[in-house]
Amino acid sequence: MPTPTESTHVAEATQNSGAHTIEFVDVEKRFGDNVVLKDLNFTVKQGERVTLIGPSGSGKTTILRLVMTLEELSGGYIYIDGEPLTHAQRDGKRVPVPKKQQKKLRTRIGMVFQQFNLFPNMTVLENIIEAPVHVLGLPKKEAIAKAHSLLEQVGLPDKADEHPSSLSGGQQQRVAIARALAMDPEILLLDEVTSALDPEVVGDVLNILREVADTTNVTMLIVTHEMGFARDVSHKVMMFDEGHIVEEGHPDTIFTSPKHERTKRFLSAVLGDGSAQSRTTSDD
Ligand SMILES: Nc1ncnc2c1ncn2[C@@H]1O[C@H](COP(=O)(O)OP(=O)(O)O)[C@@H](O)[C@H]1O
Ligand SMILES: [Mg+2]
Repeated sequence: MPTPTESTHVAEATQNSGAHTIEFVDVEKRFGDNVVLKDLNFTVKQGERVTLIGPSGSGKTTILRLVMTLEELSGGYIYIDGEPLTHAQRDGKRVPVPKKQQKKLRTRIGMVFQQFNLFPNMTVLENIIEAPVHVLGLPKKEAIAKAHSLLEQVGLPDKADEHPSSLSGGQQQRVAIARALAMDPEILLLDEVTSALDPEVVGDVLNILREVADTTNVTMLIVTHEMGFARDVSHKVMMFDEGHIVEEGHPDTIFTSPKHERTKRFLSAVLGDGSAQSRTTSDD
């Protein structure tokens, strides 16, 4: 656990960086009649680590999936390093971005999912080299060498030739992290990556991610219920409810003195103090 001094240091690390790596402008997302996100605006700076917290169904996964272009945007714009990801504004009109440009931008983004999503028919090594070889055009030899070094980093040096089904959940998730890192992403999206894991391996996976945070400048957008982890690694926490940002701020502020009743109630439920009452309290 970092000391308070270290966490202050972390918070200051990106203050000099003005560049916005992820920018949501008036984002709207509907599933049929269900409006999940509306008029959503936020930015994530280069090298910044932002954690989204909030109740189930509030739209956190949808946000990450939109950045990963796994969902179609219903309205508004998402910019990656100032470049439109799926739609651009031209002569006052909202026009789709050519697929090729979209694909190119997406190579800068990696995602780790709650359910690992490894390719079951491929070995661990094949899972890791697939995108670097076929999307980035990295020579296979180089991709393999890199995969071995990443497997070392995630503590699985001897699992290269196994298939995902022979690995535990924690091991599969570590492979999924290695697979995402193999693309040298500028942006890493983490969606409740420890929620499907046995409690005793959660710490190992979080430590790997802490190390990635400490040793790289990768921009991270994180969804997690691991509040200790969120507090350690994030520069900013955004409390989300019903598709809206309720409040945002430095993790020390959000976790120790949240302003909004909704945030207080959520944190008290997640942190396990008085959760029963919290859950039955009516919304503001
Ligand atoms: N593929 C989908 N089809 C229809 N509705 C969806 C789909 N994905 C998410 N939703 C709806 O969007 C809302 C937000 O979901 P989600 O982003 O998964 O929330 P969270 O990750 O915060 O739990 C929920 O009401 C959910 O039912
Ligand atoms: Mg989710």
